[in-house]
Amino acid sequence: MTPLLQGNTAVVGLQWGDEGKGKIVDFLTESADVVVRYCGGANAGHTVRIGPNKYSTHLLPVGIFRPQVMNLIGNGVVLDPEALFREIDEFLAKGVAISPANLRISYKTHVVMPWHKAEDEARESAAGAAGIGTTKRGIGPTYADKMQRTTAIRVADLQHEDKLRERIQRIATDRNKMFAALYDAPPVDWRPVFETYRDFGRRIAPFVDDTSKLLIDALRDGKRIVFEGAHAVLLDVDHGTYPYVTSSNCSALGIFTGAGVPPQAIQNYVGIMKSYSTRVGGGPFPTEQPNNIGDYIRERGNEYGTTTRRPRRCGWFDAVAVRYAVDIQGITHIALTLLDVLTGLDQVQICTAYKHNGQRMDYFRADMDTLAEVEPVYETLPGWRGSLSNARRFEELPKEAQQYVKRLEQLAGAPIKLVSIGPDRAATLIR
Ligand code: IMP
Repeated sequence: MTPLLQGNTAVVGLQWGDEGKGKIVDFLTESADVVVRYCGGANAGHTVRIGPNKYSTHLLPVGIFRPQVMNLIGNGVVLDPEALFREIDEFLAKGVAISPANLRISYKTHVVMPWHKAEDEARESAAGAAGIGTTKRGIGPTYADKMQRTTAIRVADLQHEDKLRERIQRIATDRNKMFAALYDAPPVDWRPVFETYRDFGRRIAPFVDDTSKLLIDALRDGKRIVFEGAHAVLLDVDHGTYPYVTSSNCSALGIFTGAGVPPQAIQNYVGIMKSYSTRVGGGPFPTEQPNNIGDYIRERGNEYGTTTRRPRRCGWFDAVAVRYAVDIQGITHIALTLLDVLTGLDQVQICTAYKHNGQRMDYFRADMDTLAEVEPVYETLPGWRGSLSNARRFEELPKEAQQYVKRLEQLAGAPIKLVSIGPDRAATLIR
C-alpha cells in the first residue's frame, strides 16, 4: 500500500490536548513499521474506533491495533505499571494480541510509584481552587523525582530485586517524613510496595529493551516510524502555558530526548488541531466560551476527558496559539479534526489576534499572567448546516465549511492535508 507520507512522521497536538491524535496516528500507522510514545504517562488518553469497537489507550502506543507494528514505550514516558497491566489485560480480553513480539519498553523509563500518585492528590487537594487541575496520575511528582535522581526508580531498577528492596525502603522512609511534615499523613509500609513492584518487574521483564537502539536499527533498515505525541504543545513544560502544563516536553521538541533518536530521524511533522479549542484543568484560555456556544461544542463533540471524564472547557479556534504551535515545532502538515462538531451554528468565529493593554498582539506569549489579560480579536465567518458525514472528498463539504478550513489554513501557516469529519477511520478526507 502506498504510504500517505514518505519518511518518518511525528504526530503532535497543536492546542491543549485532546485534538483527536489517536485517530490520526491510527490512520498514519497503516503503513508504519514502528510506533513510539516518547512523553507523558497514563494521564494521556487516545481514542481509536475500529469498526464497531472503541478503544482508549493511556500508555500503549496506538499501533498496538495493527498486527504488523512494533510498539515502543520510550524513556521519556513515566510508566505506571499498574495502569499498564490494567490496559494490557483489558485489550487481551478483547482479543488484541500483545506480547514482546509487538511491545517493548525502554529500560530507561521512569516508574510511577504509589507515593507519586498520593503526592499529586495531596498537593492538588491542599491547593484547592489554586491547583493545576492535574489528572492525579502522579505525573508531576514522578518527573520531579527523575530530575531529583536519588529518589527515582527506572524500569531497569525493577530488574534488580535486592537493590530494589533497599531502594524502595530508603525512598519510602524519606517520603514518609515528607508526608508527615507536609500533610500530616500516616506512614506507608515499604514491604508491600516492594512486593508489588517486584512482581511488576517480573511481569514486565520480557518487554524491557533498549528502545533507542531498536529505533536506530529501524532507521538504518529504512523502516517507517511514527512518533506518537501525547498532550500538546501548549501543555509542554517549557513552551506551554506554565505552570498550567503537564510535566514533560510533550511538544515535538521533546521527541529526541524522549525517544532517544537524532533530529534527522524525522521528516514529517504532522500537527493535529481541532476546529475549535478545548482545555481541561486550570489555566488561561483566551477564547473560552462559558455559555451556550461552549455547551453546544461540548455536547456535540463529547468533550469530556478520556482519562478523567471531566467536562472540557470549550471555545473558539485560537489562531494566535496555533500559529505559535506550528512555528516552534516546524509543522509540515496539519490534520484538522472534529469539523462536524461546528455544524448547525449560524456563525463561527476565529481569534486572529489578541489585544493587550490597548495594544494589538499578533504573537503568542506562553505567560499565564499576560494570557489572562488578553482580549481576543475575532473574525466571523458564516456557519453551515446539514450532515458532513457523507462527504468523501473535501469539495463535497458545504462551501462555508470549506471556506472555514481554508481560512484556518492561512492563519495557521501550514497546509491542512487531512480533514476528519467523524470518529471512524473512513471519515477522513485527504486534501
Ligand atoms: P498532569 O499531566 O496530570 O500533571 O496534569 C497537568 C495539566 O495537564 C492538567 O491541566 C491536565 O488536565 C492537563 N493534561 C494532561 N494530560 C492531558 C491530555 O492528554 N489532554 C488534555 N489535558 C491534559
